[in-house]
Amino acid sequence: MLPVHIQRNKFDPVPELARLRLEQPISPVSTPWGLTGWLATRYDDVREVLSDTARFSNAPGRRNPRFADLPARNGFLLTYDPPDHTTLRRMLTPEFTVRRMNRLRPRIEALVTDHLDAMARSGPPADLVSDFALPIPSLVICELLGVPYADREQFQRLTGTRLDMSLTPDDRAQATIEAREYMAGLVARQRADPGDDMIGMLIREHGDEIDDFELTGVADLLLIAGHETTSNMLGLGTLLLLRHPEQAAEVRTGENVAEAIEELLRYLSIVHMIVPRTAREDVVLSGQRIAAGEVVICSLAAANRDPAFGEDLDSFDIRRKISAHMAFGHGIHHCLGAPLARMEMTIAFPALLRRFPDLRLAVPFEDVPFRSYTFVFGLESMPVTW
Ligand code: HEM
Repeated sequence: MLPVHIQRNKFDPVPELARLRLEQPISPVSTPWGLTGWLATRYDDVREVLSDTARFSNAPGRRNPRFADLPARNGFLLTYDPPDHTTLRRMLTPEFTVRRMNRLRPRIEALVTDHLDAMARSGPPADLVSDFALPIPSLVICELLGVPYADREQFQRLTGTRLDMSLTPDDRAQATIEAREYMAGLVARQRADPGDDMIGMLIREHGDEIDDFELTGVADLLLIAGHETTSNMLGLGTLLLLRHPEQAAEVRTGENVAEAIEELLRYLSIVHMIVPRTAREDVVLSGQRIAAGEVVICSLAAANRDPAFGEDLDSFDIRRKISAHMAFGHGIHHCLGAPLARMEMTIAFPALLRRFPDLRLAVPFEDVPFRSYTFVFGLESMPVTW
């Protein structure tokens, strides 16, 4: 049985999660992959845990001796604590400024147009996931990282295999090894001749502070963190908008697009499982004592619908003026790619709805295959017609 925080009832967290938030906001949890700890479901508790790096650590070695030998600076920023986190995040942040993102904008617009053209050319039906929601974020990451055009197909195939939960763990592990090897090669080439993209910039500006192992880890994290998340938001977000035609109409005309994206992020809260935090000392949260060394798992989906955070949060309403949802996390690990993800969605949703004003499901809603399990919630496929 899956733990309650990664079960899902189509768009919604399961009702049990709301019951826990009300009756036992810090509750014992154990996962099929052997992690036991405490599940935090209230907005205030989640925010407190994510804000407080003095009392909660992200380092995997603290919660599992299996990871104790992992080099601390492996590039996986999410598992860093300060001061290493501060150092690496400072190097990466300039790559995600609005100015840098604006440089990517024309490329993203062109990618979106190209994929819509291809869908129009092939005619209905289409699979919105494989024809639109998956390839766009994947190609955007290629732009960002500087993956040469000639390699993109191979690179996308490897990424697809890594993320495909219907394949065996061995197949996925093999694709991960190959993708890491590819990335290590890319880093080595950039070291010899740094390009204008992100890895090239990091080498030019911080080449003596960051080694190739760490750089390969950074590239790998960006690929994984930026790919599946945005693509699942595009797929699920489109489906949710189609279920609310009057709200989709506003997005189509360009009204309330920014608000719609924040509400889609909050309502869907697709990241089921963020990095578990380990208490560095004894802590009390909502009256429950958590001993030093114990793990806290924060449910962003439960927190983002907590009545203490706002009114009627189980309904989807793009006119809601929300601020401070935690779909991108909170605190020092708040999503580095948030400006990029927001820009991709801001371009993609209105363009899709405008190109196909009559877009609709090609199968009954009940037959749309939602993913049964992954760390990030999404759709397997989404047959559409117009
Ligand atoms: C961190 C969500 C897109 C890169 C996070 C966290 C969340 C999140 C919840 C915090 C996890 C934690 O605290 O354990 C999302 C969602 C996205 C998205 C919902 C899409 C809608 C992206 C993109 C990129 C990216 C496009 C990069 C290309 C990262 C990185 C971190 C992160 C590097 C770690 C930051 C740190 O540890 O300081 N994201 N993300 N994400 N995300 Fe995203």
